[in-house]
Amino acid sequence: MIKDEIDHAIYETIDATAFVAGSKVKEFEGNFARYCNVEHAVGVSNGTGALYAALKAYDIGKHDIVLTTPMTFIATAEAISLTNAEPVFVDIEENSFNLSPTRLKEYIKKNCEWSEKKKTLIDNERKARVRAVIPVHLYGQVAEMDEIKKIAKENNMIVLEDACQAHGAEYKGKKAGAIGDIAAFSFYPSKNLGAYGQGGMVLTSKPEIAEKIRIFIDHGQNERYNHVIEGWNFKMDGIQAAILNIKLSYLDDWNEDRRQNVKYYTELLTGVDKITLPKELPDRKHVYHVYAARVKDRPGFMEFMKKEGVGTSIHYPIPLHLQPAYKHLGFDVGAFPVSEQVAAEVVSLPMFPELTKHEIEYTCQKIKEWANLSMGSGA
Ligand SMILES: Cc1ncc(COP(=O)(O)O)c(C=O)c1O
Repeated sequence: MIKDEIDHAIYETIDATAFVAGSKVKEFEGNFARYCNVEHAVGVSNGTGALYAALKAYDIGKHDIVLTTPMTFIATAEAISLTNAEPVFVDIEENSFNLSPTRLKEYIKKNCEWSEKKKTLIDNERKARVRAVIPVHLYGQVAEMDEIKKIAKENNMIVLEDACQAHGAEYKGKKAGAIGDIAAFSFYPSKNLGAYGQGGMVLTSKPEIAEKIRIFIDHGQNERYNHVIEGWNFKMDGIQAAILNIKLSYLDDWNEDRRQNVKYYTELLTGVDKITLPKELPDRKHVYHVYAARVKDRPGFMEFMKKEGVGTSIHYPIPLHLQPAYKHLGFDVGAFPVSEQVAAEVVSLPMFPELTKHEIEYTCQKIKEWANLSMGSGA
């Protein structure tokens, strides 16, 4: 039983006093790197720290721009701001809710020019260098990475995958985290691979970048009390790593259970046109961290489902460019229409590996009742 395995792993960690970084973290780094087929993994304290450390490893900071999607959890943009770079948003694709390569090209064409001297793209209005792009594999489906990588390469930008919601997801046979230049994961308890607290990981194929991250997350020391830079304290907790080590061996089965749940939802809801179910795009393996459908009358739908005892939620109700925290960036309503429309309509249906057939049947029956009731109401 997994509980016994985890209890034992916790006990072992305590016995070895491997509380921070240490042997369990090392073991988990090795296992997760192998799982994703990437050379180097560095355990960190959470996903936000993983994104931040990844950007710092590429010396991204003041007078730099990092592009990302407004349809994500705020941590993606916070990590950019924390480096003193400026987050600039690019709208999403309607079919995947992920950063749109077309919009990315458009932003570059409209706002930027190439500086041969600096070998960098310059945003003319903001007078800043466009150094990186962070595609977020939202809800567990990998973004259109080939096109994003091509644009990034042409413009000397690095691609940092925000894979915080995509443990085990695939794109053309490659695991999320193994596609861009560098990747960040979160092991927040609700993730497909979740700790019993917080945790994160950076993946890179470059040993020098891995080393920079190791130094940065440990107060900038390359050896004990020799601080080559001013860093931060982002080391991974040993007990979390020990737990994640056990859970990693179950991840594929759990993801498969999620995918089977989606199959059943899809079967039962085919023909219910008041709700639009998420699509798995070709060449992708979606791991359904979040199962986000779209409905026009979302408040009515959520209220109905709540009364019937079915919990739903929203990821995310306000796109980042319209958050009060990012008012200073100067983006108005209408700046990213697809994100705004999607944010107004997405609703997350129950999704976890242990969901039973009976629970899915009940949810779908209630969705159908709601659809029938709202027939003719124009909602
Ligand atoms: C897309 C995305 N990026 C970053 C994060 C930040 O991860 P953490 O909560 O571990 O800091 C999360 C987690 O919630 C996330 O969903």
